[in-house]
Amino acid sequence: MKTTGALIVREMTLDDIPQVLSIQSETGLSFWSETDYSREIGQTDSIGLSAEVDSVVAGFIVIRLLAGDGNDFREAEILNFAVSKKFQRNGVGSRIFYESTRQLKKLKIDELWLEVRESNFSAINFYRRHGFEPMSTRRNYFTDPTENAIIMRSYVK
Ligand SMILES: CC(C)(COP(=O)(O)OP(=O)(O)OC[C@H]1O[C@@H](n2cnc3c(N)ncnc32)[C@H](O)[C@@H]1OP(=O)(O)O)[C@@H](O)C(=O)NCCC(=O)NCCS
Repeated sequence: MKTTGALIVREMTLDDIPQVLSIQSETGLSFWSETDYSREIGQTDSIGLSAEVDSVVAGFIVIRLLAGDGNDFREAEILNFAVSKKFQRNGVGSRIFYESTRQLKKLKIDELWLEVRESNFSAINFYRRHGFEPMSTRRNYFTDPTENAIIMRSYVK
């Protein structure tokens, strides 16, 4: 679907969670419950963003800040990221990613990490396009179905 309405990327709210759950199941992400999302976005070390088109949630991301050696956060990890199928390949994921990067830069986060299923070529392509590089493989990291994870990293620029 072409995004005819204005696309905005904003903080994820509790009201978004039912739509987030439906995108999660439609796109085959690992299961998180409503409570998992509400707890996560309530944390101070978490970033939850929703992309909205015409009052509909088109996609979302959840990022956790990771504590380094000291007290400050230098790294972060993408925990969940998806765009509803009907909005995919339309720049929505990229817009979510740019807003995430803007917020991470403000927080002085240097590195962003993620794990992706090794068969998930579209996501790997997306991440490569946005500057991520494969760092290692974690065997049988994913379940249902069991699959290796590619661990990818990008420098936040
Ligand atoms: C990964 C994902 C979030 C990308 O969102 P999106 O809104 O479709 O991404 P964009 O439209 O901004 O795509 C930007 C670029 O990513 C790459 N890309 C995105 N989808 C792709 C696909 N299906 N096949 C190949 N490359 C793809 C392309 O380089 C694309 O640029 P182009 O359209 O100019 O060729 C989306 O595909 C998705 O939700 N996937 C299912 C859930 C998932 O796998 N999440 C990641 C878990 S780690």
